[in-house]
Amino acid sequence: MFGKKRKTGESLAGLENMIACNTKISSIIDDRLTYCGYDIGEFMDNNASFDEVIYLLWNGHLPTQIELNYFRKELAANSKISDAVEQCLLIQSRKHLHPMSVLRSTVSLLGVYNLNAEMLTSEAIYEQCIQIQANMPTLIAAFSRLRKGLDPIDPRDDLDFAANFLYMLNGEEPSATQVKALNRALILHADHELNASTFAARVCASTMSDIYSCVTTAIGTLKGPLHGGANEQVFEMLKEIRDSDGDVATYLQSKLDANELIMGFGHRVYKTVDPRQKYLKEMADELTRGTEDEIWYQLSLEVEDYIRNAKGLIPNVDFYSATVYHALGIDSALFTLIFAMSRVSGWIAHVKEQKTKNRLIRPRSEYVGLSGLEYEPINVR
Ligand code: COA
Repeated sequence: MFGKKRKTGESLAGLENMIACNTKISSIIDDRLTYCGYDIGEFMDNNASFDEVIYLLWNGHLPTQIELNYFRKELAANSKISDAVEQCLLIQSRKHLHPMSVLRSTVSLLGVYNLNAEMLTSEAIYEQCIQIQANMPTLIAAFSRLRKGLDPIDPRDDLDFAANFLYMLNGEEPSATQVKALNRALILHADHELNASTFAARVCASTMSDIYSCVTTAIGTLKGPLHGGANEQVFEMLKEIRDSDGDVATYLQSKLDANELIMGFGHRVYKTVDPRQKYLKEMADELTRGTEDEIWYQLSLEVEDYIRNAKGLIPNVDFYSATVYHALGIDSALFTLIFAMSRVSGWIAHVKEQKTKNRLIRPRSEYVGLSGLEYEPINVR
């Protein structure tokens, strides 16, 4: 347990600083984020690929070229979604559902259609993990196109993870800058110690439930605006600022005066800097400079400045990723799905780790309600 010792009841709210498990997957120490011992800056400085990072999280070591080639082949071979899943996406795309709700239900459906979904051998679990990881980009891109009335585009096996997703989403081969930006964003979102959705996935895994249930649980948890849903809200805020009559300061101060949260700011663990944010900020700058999207980057700079000075709050991973995703041609309603497409690699790693040395996660609560009441028959209440 770090920081202030908190013992009971309300002071335990949010389980702040409580250690709930041991992990070898990722750590946050002194505002530095590491995956399996590597600082995230190592991946950025050395242009690592997202699939290398998935392999690292699942296996605990970086792949050799042969291992990576094989892993990529497995992902590519499992990247097509079935006709049944595509039909469901088509039906969902005609309703006004939140895309995260569709993703949550569709990943659950992958388990319904996989005849081996309940098999718990390590080979079967590995195949399930590959299927979920490889299907996620295809189904997100397909859903994005279907809701615009466009036909889905099949995945290609000659493109890497990030490039393939952008190709399936936008129908054209992305530029090297776009691929680099998405690849980096995916790496930066891949894992984050015991964040809420990963904790939820581990709780589900600890009951010996199946991997589809664990990932579905995690997606539902990520959806909330205090967690992954914040990136979508950030872009809504930037649009509101652009469309408002006043300036950035007037807009933000009115939100603060009304005790409203400013999305994309603050963090439970990071208090001085979110180490992922500087890379996303650089990418937002690089992708938008000299384009019509530069306005979002410039507005973001003003918002960051104002909120730092007014509240001492730091931008988190969701703040600049909103501008990055928008510049990549992704609708704001789909931003959190991009987060999920990356974080699923971490969820799977944690579920596997939980299952290797499992004990049911079952904490206690402190009862603070009434006691000793006597039952009154309904006719005298
Ligand atoms: N906007 C305005 N005020 C904020 C804030 C924000 N984004 N984040 C924190 N604060 C305020 C809190 O209201 C609290 O004020 P108080 O002491 O007057 O009650 C104070 O800062 C301390 O908050 P803290 O205890 O650090 O928050 P937390 O650890 O319970 O919550 C978050 C962390 C991330 C949930 C919170 O910062 C938040 O809601 N941020 C916006 C949503 C977001 O971006 N989520 C993505 C996280 S990666």
